[in-house]
Amino acid sequence: MKFEIALLPGDGVGPEVAAEAVKVLETIGKKYGHGFAFHPGDVGGVAIDKHGVALTPETLAMCRKCQAVLFGAVGGPKWDDPQAKVRPEDGILGLRKGLKLFANLRPVKVLPMLINSTNLKPEVLKGVDLIVVRELTGGLYFGRPKKQWRTSKGRRAVDSMAYSEQEIERILRVGFELARGRRKKLTSVDKANVLESSRLWRQIAIELAPQYPDIALEHMLVDSCAMRLIQQPADFDIIVTENTFGDILTDEASMLAGSMGMLPSASMAGAPKEGSRTFGLYEPIHGSAPRRAGQNMANPIATILSAAMLLRYSCGLTKEADAVERSVNAVLEAGYRTYDIMEDGKTKVGTHEMGDLVTGRIA
Ligand code: IPM
Ligand code: MG
Repeated sequence: MKFEIALLPGDGVGPEVAAEAVKVLETIGKKYGHGFAFHPGDVGGVAIDKHGVALTPETLAMCRKCQAVLFGAVGGPKWDDPQAKVRPEDGILGLRKGLKLFANLRPVKVLPMLINSTNLKPEVLKGVDLIVVRELTGGLYFGRPKKQWRTSKGRRAVDSMAYSEQEIERILRVGFELARGRRKKLTSVDKANVLESSRLWRQIAIELAPQYPDIALEHMLVDSCAMRLIQQPADFDIIVTENTFGDILTDEASMLAGSMGMLPSASMAGAPKEGSRTFGLYEPIHGSAPRRAGQNMANPIATILSAAMLLRYSCGLTKEADAVERSVNAVLEAGYRTYDIMEDGKTKVGTHEMGDLVTGRIA
């Protein structure tokens, strides 16, 4: 099979980690007889510098013609002025919205060989295997009004956490459907004790539940969820939540897996299906880490595992995706670590070396 992949490396460490994921896909192509054609595009700060906007209509159109998008990271101090008219982050937000990718899956799995590389106790981490399903095209990120203005008493600003019934229902269904294929537990996270949008969210979750009688649905307030993620993370199976809550909770949850550098993500327009060829955007959950850029330091595993998700959900290549994941595990098992997951007695490697080790072990 031949696959067309849009490649948007972005800023900071983005190009470095994306290059390693490309290497992995090319190795899969050679070993398993598939072709991957990569179509590069500018996004984020580099796109602002070249084109004046973080995402051009041409790049968006190019992505639409591909089977999947492989994305690195965007942002950096150069473009961080709060008064700037254009922001690198508009690039990824424009892609998510423009491609209608409302469901963001962020799996958090604690690998046994990394259990000691986090700040948490091993007994707390044992058995952690959860997926956060983050709503990606609504809430505070996109709700209107969203503006700053001047009043006689000084400046004001507003963001709106707005959700429609349809937006809430479709993301909750992704949660229910994913739970079905797993341990059949769904935690719907909201702030229904304070927020109107959360009360609608919870009400819709309650209304949908009878259609999924096999799934145990629980509701949890987001502050409590933040605590439980540290206290008893193994209790979670699928967490479904709105955009901002999901953003914050997944940075927290990444620490269970050892580092932000370990967490992949897939953004889809519905529930992903194993072996299907559904369009999706794949990116590590970490940012552009400007301080690490250009130093061959960044951990490419999050992006490599994102590429594995790309194989699984957008190319229908299950055994190839399994091969990538197995290879990552084997490299970690053999004791190789990037700086972010380094422990005494392990072998420290850089971005390229980690990518080479993973490609080298793909069987
Ligand atoms: C993420 C990132 C983005 C987000 C930023 C870069 C806009 O933090 O993917 O989690 O907030 O969604
Ligand atoms: Mg984030």
